[in-house]
Amino acid sequence: MRRVIFGGSFDPPTLAHLDMGLKLAERFDQTIVVPAYISPFKKGGAELDGSERELLLKKLFDGNDKITVSDEEIAAGGTSYSYMTAQKLYNPDDELYIAIGSDGLASLDKWARTDILAKIVTFYVVERPYFKVKQAELDNARKIFKVEIAPFVGKEGSSSLLRVAVAFGKSAEVVPPVVVEYIRNRGLYLDYDYIVSRYPEFDMKKSRAEHIYRTTKAAILLAKLNNVSTDKAIKAALYHDIGKYVSREKLENLGIAWTNEIEELPESCRHQLTGAAIANKCFGETDSDVLAAIATHTTGAKNMSALQKVIFAADYIEEGRDFDGLDKIRELTYDNLDEGVIAILKNTIAYLEASGQEIAPVTREACEYMTLNKENTNGNNDR
Ligand SMILES: [Fe+2]
Ligand SMILES: [Fe+2]
Repeated sequence: MRRVIFGGSFDPPTLAHLDMGLKLAERFDQTIVVPAYISPFKKGGAELDGSERELLLKKLFDGNDKITVSDEEIAAGGTSYSYMTAQKLYNPDDELYIAIGSDGLASLDKWARTDILAKIVTFYVVERPYFKVKQAELDNARKIFKVEIAPFVGKEGSSSLLRVAVAFGKSAEVVPPVVVEYIRNRGLYLDYDYIVSRYPEFDMKKSRAEHIYRTTKAAILLAKLNNVSTDKAIKAALYHDIGKYVSREKLENLGIAWTNEIEELPESCRHQLTGAAIANKCFGETDSDVLAAIATHTTGAKNMSALQKVIFAADYIEEGRDFDGLDKIRELTYDNLDEGVIAILKNTIAYLEASGQEIAPVTREACEYMTLNKENTNGNNDR
C-alpha cells in the first residue's frame, strides 16, 4: 500500500490544500492529512486553534474514504517533528511518502533526524506555481533522501493571500465555502481591513481597487520569491494608489503640503508621493521602506530596496494588465526581480517616448543605474 503524509499548519485550510489533497488521493491508496500543532507562543502564531483546523479539514475531505485527517501532532502538542509523525505512521509492509511543496526542497537537509527519515520515507515534491524545481536542489536532496516529483502542479494559496482577499470581500477566491463561513462568523483574518475599508474616504474608484487587489497578489508572490517581508509588501501594495484621486485641495485639507517635489513630477506620477504622504499622515504608517516603496512605484529610483522593486514590478505585471510583450516581462520578473525591473524601466521609457509623454528624470537615472550595476555584477561573476 502506498501512503502519503500531507502535513502543514492549515491555518486555515485553503482551496490550494483542498486541490492538493484530492490530487494526492488520486495517486495514493491513503492520504493522511496532518495539521501541525502551532505553539501559542510562536510569533505570528495560528489564528485558528488545533481543534478548529482539524474540524475544518474533516469537513473539507468528508466523504473521501482515501483521505484521513490525523490529530497526531495536535494531540501531542509542543514541537512536532516530521520524523516522529512518520515513525508513528510507518508500517514496514507499506511505502510511506511525505508530500512537500517545491519551495521546501532546498531546506530538506535541515529537517530533524534526516537519518531516520531517509530510512522510512520518500519525499513527494509538488511543484508550486512560480517555484520551479531546481535541478541542483533536487540533486542535493537526493544525496540524502529518496525523492519523487509529482506529475502535477499545485495551486497558489496562503494565509497572506487570504488576509488580503478578506479585506476586499473576496475570501471565496482563496478558501472553500465552509472556511469562508467559519472565518466570517468569527471575524478572523481582518488584518488589512483597516486600509481597504477606508478607500472611499480617498475617492477610490472600484476599478482602481480591483487593480490594487491584483497588484497586492503579485506583490505577495514577488515578496516570497525574493525573501521580502510579505506584511510590508502587502501594506505598500494596498497603499500604492491611494493618492490617485485625491485633489491638491483635499490633500491640503488633510494637512499634507503640496511640495516642489510633487509639483516637479509628471502629473501621472505625482500620486506616488501624495500616496506615501497619505499612508503616513492618515494611516499612521511609519515604516520608511513601506513609504519609500509607495513613493517610487511609478517612476522607480536609483538604489531601490528589494521591497521598492517588488512594488514597482507588481504594479506593472499584475494579472489584469495585457499588452504585447508583457507575458515575457512577467516571466522574467518572477524568475529574476532585477532583470524584470530593468525590462520594465526600459519598456516604460520606450512607451512614454513613443507616445510623446513626459518622462521623469529619475526613471532614466534608475534605468541607467540598474543596467550598469547588472553589467558590473555579471563582470564580477566571470572572474
Ligand atoms: Fe500608481
Ligand atoms: Fe497601480
